[in-house]
Amino acid sequence: MSKLTVAILCGGTSPEHEVSMNSARNIYKAIDKAKYDVVVIGVSRSGQWLHLPEDEFMQLTSIESGNVGFPLMLLPGEERVIQYRPVHSPQSTVGSQQFPKIDVVFPIIHGPFGEDGTLQGLLALLGLPFVGPNTLGASVGMDKDFTKRLLRDAGILVAPWVMLRNHETPDYEAIAEQLGYPMFVKPANMGSSVGVSKAETIVQLKEAIDLAFKFDTKVLVEQGLKGREIETAVLGNIEDLRVSGVGEIVMEKGFYDYESKYLSPDAAKVVIPAENVSTTDVENIRETALRAFQVLGLEGLSRMDVFLLPDGRVFVNEPNTLPGFTNISMYPKLWMEAGMSYPELIDRLLTLAMERHERDGALQRTR
Ligand SMILES: Nc1ncnc2c1ncn2[C@@H]1O[C@H](COP(=O)(O)OP(=O)(O)O)[C@@H](O)[C@H]1O
Ligand SMILES: [Mg+2]
Repeated sequence: MSKLTVAILCGGTSPEHEVSMNSARNIYKAIDKAKYDVVVIGVSRSGQWLHLPEDEFMQLTSIESGNVGFPLMLLPGEERVIQYRPVHSPQSTVGSQQFPKIDVVFPIIHGPFGEDGTLQGLLALLGLPFVGPNTLGASVGMDKDFTKRLLRDAGILVAPWVMLRNHETPDYEAIAEQLGYPMFVKPANMGSSVGVSKAETIVQLKEAIDLAFKFDTKVLVEQGLKGREIETAVLGNIEDLRVSGVGEIVMEKGFYDYESKYLSPDAAKVVIPAENVSTTDVENIRETALRAFQVLGLEGLSRMDVFLLPDGRVFVNEPNTLPGFTNISMYPKLWMEAGMSYPELIDRLLTLAMERHERDGALQRTR
């Protein structure tokens, strides 16, 4: 069988650019090179698409336009991306290098313009199979307000919340009255805890809302839940879904913020499998995660994050439709625990992407 070409798509314009680069390098290393050729497409901080040769890619923690790589051009409907010679640097040798035909894309760009459906729409227009949810699933799964409304509608528990728009002046007293302290304030569309704060006083609430509005025009204020932070992994297309066991994020103090996720790894312990969770609770969590995945119209993969309360109730915090893929990330580690190696997981995700593309491509396009 001839080799397939995978394009890893990484970087992006969101604050999670570095997280993406880190995940992308791990995926690059794990892809079975006997089965797949790999090309890397880096999206710079300003949004330019660039072909990154392997040696350059491996060194990079951040992609700045103009410094690295070769600009790419997308051809909708032709299932391809080509390299071109930019007008502003006619001396470059760029145009001479052919960009291979892509068979499947692994987009590992987090946050807005990566995980929110925009990129998925672009890849769908290009006609390329890609890992992860389709446009609708990605946008719904990214927007914490829409996610919560759909889950609530399906009878799945979510933390009570108030949604704010930046053109309205919030009534802080009324919010505090309604939700009680502590509260968690977050931009509706972000990840990695960027812009998320815990508020225990009205002054903190105001500061937290101001901060969150720097990242989004829509902000959520949620009731703080006192429960264990449990995560589980869902894998598959809608007709064939699998759920892993459960892991736990154990915090020394505070909450799971950007710092504890990436900068001080000792602040948060990732425990897999989660300890001292009864079989009934594990089954409830897995069942809830599976239902939430289906309700949100997700496909491919998602890490599902829940809170397990002392009385056994399971509240869904959020799906992560393109979860972190660093070597310490929960999603791959949950599958390793279930007996699937990192390379096997990547292979499975690529296969699911191609199967879905084929399934959807078989739909009738004429009347
Ligand atoms: N309602 C809540 N109750 C308790 N803790 C919360 C709540 N919402 C968020 N947190 C804490 O904040 C962290 C980040 O919030 P989350 O909604 O997961 O944002 P992100 O999408 O950036 O990961 C969570 O992992 C958890 O530690
Ligand atoms: Mg989270």
